Amino acid sequence: MGQILPLLEQYLPKSRVAHSLRVAETARQLALLQPCDSATSKFLPEKAYSAGLLHDIAKAMSPQKLCDAGIAKHPWYASTYIRYPAVWHAFAGPCMSEQLLGPQDAEISRAIRYHTTGTGNMSPLDSILYIADYIEPGRPFADRAVLADIFQNDVLHELSFGDKLGLAIAIIVTSGIIGLTKQQKAIHPLTLRCYNAHSNGMTGASLHYWKTHVSRYY
Ligand SMILES: [Fe+2]
Repeated sequence: MGQILPLLEQYLPKSRVAHSLRVAETARQLALLQPCDSATSKFLPEKAYSAGLLHDIAKAMSPQKLCDAGIAKHPWYASTYIRYPAVWHAFAGPCMSEQLLGPQDAEISRAIRYHTTGTGNMSPLDSILYIADYIEPGRPFADRAVLADIFQNDVLHELSFGDKLGLAIAIIVTSGIIGLTKQQKAIHPLTLRCYNAHSNGMTGASLHYWKTHVSRYY
């Protein structure tokens, strides 16, 4: 962990380092809410914190800057940068982390890869990082408090922790797609996959929460 902060300070502006620290702490707090029912959940808060710290490591980079820094190309890196410039850093992040820090935990690398687009089948760590990036206290999003409430105030006590993660992802991906369409920006296929897996077909308490607490924002 002590190795990561100096790297963040080297490659990111101060405001982005501060964001990364807030995401790390938010992710750790979310992970602590996971019921301790498996061996893997024991390490989740620690992994969530590390993933939060590292998730935006490539945010200030470009394909050219990566090359200049001697960091290996990824096969789809140039075309993704051109078509989906806001997404690219998520795919470049694991590659940059490995280059700078050596082999990385596969679950953390995967969570970083999907932290911007989401995807169809998200692990608890993928989900926690994706949500923490949106609800960390420095974010200005109007629906941020409603999302945090899903976890903080037990307004959805009948839902499992996994169901709450799924509901939060559905809200975030829907908000993201609406924002992209308003700006006539391309939607990455993984974002659509995330939407189809989490928003489409919502039922029960999740759907009720959506209608009563969330839909007014869109
Ligand atoms: Fe971020």
